[in-house]
Amino acid sequence: MRIIKDLEEMQMYSFKTRCRGKTIGFVPTMGCLHEGHLSLVEAAKKKADVVVVSIFVNPIQFGPSEDYKEYPRPLATDKGLLEHFDIDVLFLPEANKITPDNFSSYIEVDKLSKKMCGRARPAYFRGVTTIVAKFFNIVCPDFTFFGEKDYQQQIIIKKMVKDLGFAIKIITLPTVREFDGLAMSSRNQYLSVKEREQAIILYKALCLARQEIESGEKNDHKILLRVRSLIGSVPNIRLDYVVFADPETLDEVKTLRGKILVALAAYIGKARLIDNLIVNAK
Ligand code: PAF
Repeated sequence: MRIIKDLEEMQMYSFKTRCRGKTIGFVPTMGCLHEGHLSLVEAAKKKADVVVVSIFVNPIQFGPSEDYKEYPRPLATDKGLLEHFDIDVLFLPEANKITPDNFSSYIEVDKLSKKMCGRARPAYFRGVTTIVAKFFNIVCPDFTFFGEKDYQQQIIIKKMVKDLGFAIKIITLPTVREFDGLAMSSRNQYLSVKEREQAIILYKALCLARQEIESGEKNDHKILLRVRSLIGSVPNIRLDYVVFADPETLDEVKTLRGKILVALAAYIGKARLIDNLIVNAK
């Protein structure tokens, strides 16, 4: 595994790889790798000739009161995992090269980035799309891989790719869950033993919504009330939102018909966790 820190060296590596007629699969991450990330790496290995994984904790996608400083950075463990997966390049740029002090160009996907998580985290998706676009320009991948746990993120990135004409295919993979259903996330590390036990209520709440919707319940208020009261029954959890939305436009739906995205975000202790399911209404 080659480690590249320099932006121009990365660009040159990609240019030469493509000149040799090889395809590049790219997995952008913020490190603290778990099985969710590794499922993306595996998919990239199957799909592309050369696999590049980036680790970069992106300062511009964190709000001023968020966890940029505390975000876990177990670099040695991450490197070991990626070595084991025998990827070609670990791209490890420095923050002052990606977002220097005078950085002032941003990409924003209008509307989609204001819904759901965008309400509580107004600059979040602008930070994500800006950095992902910059990485696309540096890594020049043919394929990139995102997890469906960050459902809104992958929808927004697909829209950016379409709107701005990036010649990149976005491939998404299902959420990887712990033994009890909790969605894998680097932020699960923030949970105390007690909070970790409590966090399972989020997946249970999604399953409750799925069960009600798939069994034909049409009253969205009734289901939302049950979901909210299930989550509310656990102390220390503060629900940010739970929505029933169109899986493409992310517009909230009132009529429960066809495919529906059930998505939520909640604060447990120091962690803000998100999760979602796609369900089929009758
Ligand atoms: O999903 C993430 O880990 C990040 O938002 C990403 C896509 C690597 C951009 O910083």
